[in-house]
Amino acid sequence: MLFLAMAFGALAQAETPKNSEEMYTYKQIGNKYVVSINNREEIAKALADFCEKLKIKSGTVCGIGAVNEATLRFFDPKTKKYDDKTFEEQMEISNLTGNISTMDGKTYLHLHITLGRSNYAALAGHLLSARLNGAGEFVIEDFGESIGRKYSPEIGLNIYDFKGRPAQEKRQD
Ligand SMILES: [Fe+2]
Repeated sequence: MLFLAMAFGALAQAETPKNSEEMYTYKQIGNKYVVSINNREEIAKALADFCEKLKIKSGTVCGIGAVNEATLRFFDPKTKKYDDKTFEEQMEISNLTGNISTMDGKTYLHLHITLGRSNYAALAGHLLSARLNGAGEFVIEDFGESIGRKYSPEIGLNIYDFKGRPAQEKRQD
């Protein structure tokens, strides 16, 4: 009975949309933001929420921390498809690096990660999602302008589109 109550509680919690404050805290320094993502949050989701809330339409992100679950993707240029693989173990984020742009009006994050395993070997790849289990310390730089993306049928990926966003869309705030 207790198990059922706990399971239901977990489900009910998962269905409730979170406030930004529940996912991260931050401090702005010029055009940079030092972001501390809360333990047990999913990194890509929290970073995307941050960029949406702060209206960051282009920039870079880097960070360190620790996770116990991560899904990486490997892109095969022949099939133009991703192969996803999930790793469920405690790992150090020795580096997360990525860029911020927009596509179809929404935040588009392109994130790569290098993860250190308990035997000090490294896993690396394109990051789809990762859940923090420890600290999550990130720095985001806001370029202050919009950079969009468009799908390239030739490559099979969403690539930068500098022509699609004229200069007058430069942010005023
Ligand atoms: Fe990538």
